[in-house]
Amino acid sequence: MISTIRNALQVMAIQRPHVAVVCLLLCCLSGGHSIPDPRQREALIRLETSMQTGGHEVLTDAEQRLDAVLYKLKQVEVMRADFPPAMHFFKARHLIRSSPVFSLLQKMPKGAALHVHDFSMVDVEWLLTNATYRPYCYICFTDDQSIRFIFSSRSPKPVPHCSPWYLLESLRAKMNTTELDNSIMGNLTLFTQQDPETVYPSQDTVWFKFEHTFRAVWGLVTYAPVFRDYYYQGLTELYMDNVMYLELRCLLPEIYELDGSTHDRAWTLKTYKDVTRHFKAAHPDFFGARIIFTVQRQVNVSFMTKTVEEAMKLQKNFPDIMAGFDLVGREDKGRPLWYYRDALSLPMERGVTLAFFFHAGETNLEGTEVDQNVLDALLFNTSRIGHGFALLRHPVAKGLSKKEDVAVEVCPISNQVLKLVDDLRNHPAAVLMSENHPMVISSDDPGVFGASGLSYDFYEAFVGFGGLRSNIGSLKALAKNSIRYSSLTAQQQEEALASWQRRWDKFVSENVF
Ligand SMILES: *[C@@H]1O[C@H](CO)[C@@H](O)[C@H](O)[C@H]1NC(C)=O
Ligand SMILES: *[C@@H]1O[C@H](CO)[C@@H](O)[C@H](O)[C@H]1NC(C)=O
Ligand SMILES: *[C@@H]1O[C@H](CO)[C@@H](O)[C@H](O)[C@H]1NC(C)=O
Ligand SMILES: *[C@@H]1O[C@H](CO)[C@@H](O)[C@H](O)[C@H]1NC(C)=O
Ligand SMILES: *[C@@H]1O[C@H](CO)[C@@H](O)[C@H](O)[C@H]1NC(C)=O
Ligand SMILES: [Zn+2]
Repeated sequence: MISTIRNALQVMAIQRPHVAVVCLLLCCLSGGHSIPDPRQREALIRLETSMQTGGHEVLTDAEQRLDAVLYKLKQVEVMRADFPPAMHFFKARHLIRSSPVFSLLQKMPKGAALHVHDFSMVDVEWLLTNATYRPYCYICFTDDQSIRFIFSSRSPKPVPHCSPWYLLESLRAKMNTTELDNSIMGNLTLFTQQDPETVYPSQDTVWFKFEHTFRAVWGLVTYAPVFRDYYYQGLTELYMDNVMYLELRCLLPEIYELDGSTHDRAWTLKTYKDVTRHFKAAHPDFFGARIIFTVQRQVNVSFMTKTVEEAMKLQKNFPDIMAGFDLVGREDKGRPLWYYRDALSLPMERGVTLAFFFHAGETNLEGTEVDQNVLDALLFNTSRIGHGFALLRHPVAKGLSKKEDVAVEVCPISNQVLKLVDDLRNHPAAVLMSENHPMVISSDDPGVFGASGLSYDFYEAFVGFGGLRSNIGSLKALAKNSIRYSSLTAQQQEEALASWQRRWDKFVSENVF
């Protein structure tokens, strides 16, 4: 009898989990025993596990064996006194690198990276050792202890609040190169060997430095030859980390040449397309990349209107490479989405397709105008929500995101480094993951955070907020989600999923013994 009820309830649980839980609880309460029925307890536990991300994945024998291995490895990790997800990533990185769970995650085919930014996708060491060692590279030192770069065939014009330009090559010949290069590195990244809590005591201090790193790399990465190689290097790093597809958020700035001439936005977009094609030619199992055009969220309404119009034009002219549109920059200090409501309604008004991929809810300013962004993003039919860190505090928005199947792009390391959460076990995505809310894992600005690829963020998600309960099914679901929630067409998704599945099967068979 009990098992009949249980079966019925389990069928129901799949359709209406909350009702089923209530019924099960009532059954337990009305049983009249002082000790709750262990079988029903077991059923409730299984019900809850089945509700998590990947809870309904059917696992092969080999996958189950790999899961058992992973579980043991994770158990060992959780017991550690220096548990990496509980620590700041800068302090945890070397521990993560030596973790056997991490090495498995590196080998795992992770699908797609759907939330990464153009000028923070590459390890800054590449910028130092490759970009700054090219000829004609000039550097100047700003009044506020930062640096700027420019490549120029002539002596470049001075810029305000900066020292005269020095040819880097000559400077290196005169100065201690190690010290100079270390100070350049220090300006290109947030990563530090010092105590990160001391160096970055508040959101303001960390964002101040974060924005400075972008200004410092600007002159390097917007130089045409570096621009192409940088993007190629970014694809290489993702590929090496077993990521097969990318959706990159790009400012599409003017790109300059050695003689000072510049290229427009269409050229920049076309260059992304060309480099992607070259990369694919050299790596046939890489699926490709698409671009989400972004604009700073401080601009005025007329500028936003102009930019949205340009985005519609680019979308029309480059439908295969261009995925859509987004706003970037510190949400707390920027204008809320609602401020731009007229501009953002233009595509709909004109019957033009322009998909939105809004950053929203990357904040802990509860109850402010900015905090409404998650709901507004959904009202503007966003295709995904970037971060959605505040989503749990908005039950209506959360419900809509689930109902409309709008995935949240969770970037754990970014949220920790930018000081929204300290201990990644407490990341709000723990809740989202426990109830299979549509979500993907991404890395935001791996270059600036001292990470690379997706594996570090997968580690924090799987070992940190996934807890012991997340399993191989969760990983499988997260990887598949990254393809399913991409901007690829249904047919492309099918192709990508088939290719991912082949790699996945290979990964599983190579890692069970
Ligand atoms: C930088 O990388 C590019 C592309 O891999 C390579 O062709 C070039 O020689 C490198 N330059 C330096 C200075 O390392
Ligand atoms: C350059 O500076 C580093 C670090 O301060 C020091 O260890 C090294 O000896 C110096 N090299 C030279 C050639 O002075
Ligand atoms: C950035 O560069 C300036 C100028 O060389 C230097 O004084 C400063 O120490 C560097 N910052 C870091 C964090 O290395
Ligand atoms: C809007 O911003 C642009 C670019 O910063 C500026 O050129 C323009 O004058 C501004 N317009 C208004 C109405 O403030
Ligand atoms: C969002 O989609 C709904 C339903 O398709 C539509 O009615 C609405 O006008 C759209 N809103 C915007 C701002 O695109
Ligand atoms: Zn972002």
